Amino acid sequence: MNNLTKPDDQIAPAELLKSYIEWGVDETITEEPINWFSETDNIQIIHNITPKTSSNTSAISTASQSAPLASQQENIETASKLADSCKDLGELNAAILEFDGCSLKKTASNTVFSDGNPDSDIMIIGEAPGGDEDRVGKPFVGETGQLLDRMFAAIDMKRETDFYITNMLPWRPPGNRKPTEAECELCLPFIKKHIELFQPKLIICVGGTSANALLNTKNGITKIRGKWEEYLLNGNTVPIIPIFHPAYLIRQPQFKTQTWHDLLAIKEKASKLTS
Ligand code: URA
Repeated sequence: MNNLTKPDDQIAPAELLKSYIEWGVDETITEEPINWFSETDNIQIIHNITPKTSSNTSAISTASQSAPLASQQENIETASKLADSCKDLGELNAAILEFDGCSLKKTASNTVFSDGNPDSDIMIIGEAPGGDEDRVGKPFVGETGQLLDRMFAAIDMKRETDFYITNMLPWRPPGNRKPTEAECELCLPFIKKHIELFQPKLIICVGGTSANALLNTKNGITKIRGKWEEYLLNGNTVPIIPIFHPAYLIRQPQFKTQTWHDLLAIKEKASKLTS
């Protein structure tokens, strides 16, 4: 009998872990979905994972007596208040680290804030950290990030000097799934403040997630890519353009031609930015 056919409890733990890694398991999940917004579910989780010792009872009763979890609306208000209080990017980073209202933070290893040149004029906004970004704590450092760097290198732009890069969400969605609308809504106050503090002269949305949230549209990326829009920032407008996400281009390389045209349009617009 090999490891695939033996029941899990008949395999040595190290063997079992090795098999999980080979199968690509990168999350520890429960058999039932968890509603992280529900107080009852969270108490149930404590029941399930806490060993049955005498101190166990106090852990459960503390959880039972604790205040109910905040609603989505309350969490959005907390995020907005925290974001509003920030006067620079360092304070914003600290405020995001302090914010506990997004359940993604519970499963992420790192809060991923930004990378690139904070004194540049161009701000690139992706979707959310993936596994590599979550481990390293910086956006776009994995395979997708390497393609993004190559795309911008093709128009003579380097992240060290020419652009600043962040994501719509600072935490990795488990299994790299697409962020939900609720998660985007929750993190919107932070990205809006990020833009306000960075003061870009040009914004590039990489993929539909940030484009939909910042342009307030539900149109798919295929429809909106390559079209310049205006982002309202402190009474002025900043040009903003959505482009295909490099992860999408890895899966669908036929869209690289359109992306090349979008990159050329970005190069042209960037060359006209006033200093
Ligand atoms: N994809 C993103 O949108 N952002 C990252 O940081 C990595 C992958």
